[in-house]
Amino acid sequence: MNLTLKIWRQKNANDKGRMVEYKVTDISEHMSFLEMMDVLNESLVAKGEEPVAFDHDCREGICGMCSLFINGEAHGPDRGITTCQLHMRMFNDGDTITIEPWRATAFPVIKDLIVDRTAFERIQQAGGYISVNTSGNTQDANAIPIPKYDADRSMDAASCIGCGACVATCKNSSAMLFVAAKVSQFALLPQGRVEAADRVMNMVHQMDLEGFGNCTNTGACEVECPKGISLENIARMNREYLKASCR
Ligand code: SF4
Ligand code: FES
Repeated sequence: MNLTLKIWRQKNANDKGRMVEYKVTDISEHMSFLEMMDVLNESLVAKGEEPVAFDHDCREGICGMCSLFINGEAHGPDRGITTCQLHMRMFNDGDTITIEPWRATAFPVIKDLIVDRTAFERIQQAGGYISVNTSGNTQDANAIPIPKYDADRSMDAASCIGCGACVATCKNSSAMLFVAAKVSQFALLPQGRVEAADRVMNMVHQMDLEGFGNCTNTGACEVECPKGISLENIARMNREYLKASCR
């Protein structure tokens, strides 16, 4: 395939940035999207030009690093996958593909297609953990019976990889789906109930401090989430928040 790429280029956080057009040729439909980006970068380096900066790590849909807004969709046109799992067979010869970074005030662009997602880390640090005595007397987790239904829903929530596609997709740049997943994975388990009230209050407070918008139940986040995190988690977080507010 021969393709035209329109890519956001921005030297640093202070640069205004602009869309730049590139041509790539002989792209195999079996390549991943990031491999196609590698082809572009190799050609840029060969010409002595600055390669396009983009985030990636595992390239297996696990780490949550890859984060491209492709043709107006977070992680591109496929469903239930990350950018690194997107394949070029989703495109046609002659296509023009627009590639942008996540756009959100709380995710400022660092360079080209890389944004600063440390806001998510600060939200996690505000409560996305349980406090356990690891002095050697730790109770075996398997000693606490947990209904399979709850364990499964907790595991589903825990599958959030913190990529930020939900924020990038939301018209309000809301981080509610991410925070709700992190709150839910603990709220559903007895180990998480001990600090549940403080957790939801602190994480929501940090989310607001970071400048994320509010949820208006549009549901775009759920559609674009590569891990299928359900809006039910937002409803659960709201219930947890209400309960904690009434303490
Ligand atoms: S909820 Fe989904 S889209 Fe949002 S950070 Fe987690 S995995 Fe990514
Ligand atoms: S590079 Fe790890 S999820 Fe895409």
